Amino acid sequence: MTVPASPSTHPDAGWWRQAAVYQIYPRSFSDATGDGIGDLPGATARMGYLSALGIDAIWLSPFYPSALADGGYDVDDYRNVDPRLGTLDDFDAMVAASHDAGIKVIVDVVPNHSSNRHVWFQAALGSAPGSPERARYHFADGLGVNGELPPSDWPSHFGGGAWTRVVEQAGPNAGRPGQWYLHLFATEQPDFNWDHPEVQADFHTTLRFWADRGVDGFRVDVAHGLAKDMSLPLRSKPQLEILVDDGSDPLFDRDAVHDIFTGWRGVLNEYDPPKAAVAEAWVPFTNRRLMYARPTELGQAFNFDLLQAPFDAAEFRAIAEKCLVEAEASGASSTWVFSNHDVVRHASRYALPDGSTLEDLEAWLLAGGTVPPADLGRGLRRARAATLFMLGLPGSAYLYQGEELGLFEVADLPEASLQDPTWFRTQHKVKGRDGCRVPLPWQRDAANFGFGGTPWLPQPDWFAGHAADAQDGVEGSTLEMYRAALGWRRKLQTDESLAWLSEPAASVVHYRRPNGWEVLTNFGAAPALVPSGVDPAKVVLSSGVPATGTVPAETTLWLAP
Ligand code: GLC
Repeated sequence: MTVPASPSTHPDAGWWRQAAVYQIYPRSFSDATGDGIGDLPGATARMGYLSALGIDAIWLSPFYPSALADGGYDVDDYRNVDPRLGTLDDFDAMVAASHDAGIKVIVDVVPNHSSNRHVWFQAALGSAPGSPERARYHFADGLGVNGELPPSDWPSHFGGGAWTRVVEQAGPNAGRPGQWYLHLFATEQPDFNWDHPEVQADFHTTLRFWADRGVDGFRVDVAHGLAKDMSLPLRSKPQLEILVDDGSDPLFDRDAVHDIFTGWRGVLNEYDPPKAAVAEAWVPFTNRRLMYARPTELGQAFNFDLLQAPFDAAEFRAIAEKCLVEAEASGASSTWVFSNHDVVRHASRYALPDGSTLEDLEAWLLAGGTVPPADLGRGLRRARAATLFMLGLPGSAYLYQGEELGLFEVADLPEASLQDPTWFRTQHKVKGRDGCRVPLPWQRDAANFGFGGTPWLPQPDWFAGHAADAQDGVEGSTLEMYRAALGWRRKLQTDESLAWLSEPAASVVHYRRPNGWEVLTNFGAAPALVPSGVDPAKVVLSSGVPATGTVPAETTLWLAP
């Protein structure tokens, strides 16, 4: 394919195009200080592990000062480190260690909302309606006779309404209930007004701040949410997730958002090589999602299509085909992801009965992972097959900490330990995302499985069998499968294309990369014949039992040229 002209001729300018990116959720990765919260020195100390794993980059979820109303996605100060996680010096040391290990660093930037403790929001609360301080957020008068009703029917993503009324601190109504402010997520996450030039300028400053400290890229949180139509009367939108594909939604995926990211690209291109960026944009329409990924904007956008698909040959093949074609059309490379800090781990998703919906998954979590019974053996087998299917594809693969250990969701966390705002804002009807955020098990026999101090979310006993040291050097372990795959991947990822060798409806999906590497995935529950012309002696990696002339059930094979 033709790679679009880059403003840079730097040999490293396209490093992200086929990178394997490992997501670190810092509070749950590794705790060097022993307070039960993972930290930046903890991440630095694990650089040897990450390097041996064979990843190309790490992406750190927010480590900024925060009250943790939403796990750090409620940012108090965009240009600092939460003291519980370290200091700016610790950050610099982590970047240096990472670069020494040949690993790039991506940080999360959260532009849709700040925390309610941010100095600008505090100033807005302390100022009167109509003041310049309020203009950086979305404040509005309520409806009803006395403004007692929210300005619109918009719900929050985490349950409940998206507006909270303040008690005025200044102006003629001081001491009385007054205006409302918008928060599409938790109450503690007021949405910024991106029409405000100071908001735009401040994020450019933040991008430069981290870029100057050596980060190589940015993951952009809720990228599709920044531009909003706040013209009165506000339009009704009782269900946030229903979007249309023409940019006319009042809250998400509006065309104006692209002006913002064109401006960001200008900042990112001040560096050589230019800084990479990936949009988190839950936009279901590929043609619109790809606008975020254009070379004139962020360069890449997450596609969550495989993550949302059942383990099914036709679905996987169709999604991969579509995403590759569309990524090429935009000049981006595709992204792939099965697990992250927001979803039930894929080894557990695939363990549920076929045909389970998102509602079934939520009900299963609420039942502590008991109803319906999950087939964990099958879940992990499918997860490993899916991962090898993905790691062979052209594009960037995003891996979530712990998936290389074959971790399942911790579905039975004690209710008293739950922290996700979803749990509270839905009056305990939706369990939320804590089950994929439990601190990692490093050592089978150490206290807290070698994580550090008593973890902020309790680890289950079964973590012992998944501990990194219990899998190290063990043939067939999930950790060794990831290491082998990531090692071979460096040979396999050359030209960004592939040829499909199977029929779209076949239960075995088969593709070949231009350098001759082949990937075969059997999505069926029974072994399948090796397709004619394929030499089983060339198998170098299997996600399941060693192949003996067949493609075993729910298994991916990699064949060297
Ligand atoms: C993104 C993050 C998620 C967070 C939300 C609000 O979706 O991935 O964890 O809760 O944005 O910032």
